[in-house]
Amino acid sequence: MSDQLQVSETDKRIYGEPINEVGDPLVSHDEPELPVPVPSVSIETDGEFAAAIQDAIQTHRPQRLLETGTHDGCGSTTVIAEAMESEARLMTIENDINFVRAARSNVERFWPMVHVRHGLSIPRHLLPKEAAILADIQKLPEGCAVDWPDLSNEERAKWYSLEADKPVHIDAMIRRCIELEFRKPPDFVMLDSAGHLGWIEFQYLMLFLKLPCVLALDDTKHLKHYRTLAFIEKDSRFKVVARGSERFGWVVAEFQP
Ligand SMILES: C[S@@+](CC[C@H](N)C(=O)[O-])C[C@H]1O[C@@H](n2cnc3c(N)ncnc32)[C@H](O)[C@@H]1O
Repeated sequence: MSDQLQVSETDKRIYGEPINEVGDPLVSHDEPELPVPVPSVSIETDGEFAAAIQDAIQTHRPQRLLETGTHDGCGSTTVIAEAMESEARLMTIENDINFVRAARSNVERFWPMVHVRHGLSIPRHLLPKEAAILADIQKLPEGCAVDWPDLSNEERAKWYSLEADKPVHIDAMIRRCIELEFRKPPDFVMLDSAGHLGWIEFQYLMLFLKLPCVLALDDTKHLKHYRTLAFIEKDSRFKVVARGSERFGWVVAEFQP
């Protein structure tokens, strides 16, 4: 995976396809069960990160909120939904159909503010192969965490690859939500999907951030976002407004294009 991402012709072609609005027309699919990441995948709803997210939302009052990694909707999605204004819209992206179903039920009370989209956040061709994931894990700096501490690096690379490569009909969901649904860049983004995709998702998102935006990142002392954090600390368009070490680290930053 190169550090500089380009939107390919393939992505441009699929971008015009219709969105899978509510249906989940998936054929049944035999999937191995993922070992559960430790200690828990969800952000703490009464923790410092949750408070910082809600603070930023109440300060900036974003109207077009985007999230990757909905999970069951009871973590960050609920934290965001509780703070946003009733006219604002949150599009939250999840690639696992079972979590999509759970989340749709768990956030039903926030209708019509919150919309759970089933799909892959990034274009499918940007998913790294197992060998590239393994290389990333092997060059993880000291002090950065990775999921599944009891597994070998080879096994972790395999599980990460399986976590991201779920059967979905729609990919490039970040772009679809921004260009087809909001029709304008988002003004709040939370990135919290698979551990090996944080940096890739961030680079993809940056192609579309053309207006001021609040960015919330979970797992900044982790494979997920240690490179994203290093990037935003050096880039003058970003101002870190809150950060903490809860779980594997988090940050909230303001972006000015
Ligand atoms: C760390 S969990 C998210 C936790 C959630 N934000 C919370 O606070 O409860 C990551 C979620 O992202 C989903 N996921 C992984 N890769 C994805 C991708 N590329 N696009 C969409 N969802 C993805 C996984 O299925 C999983 O439910």
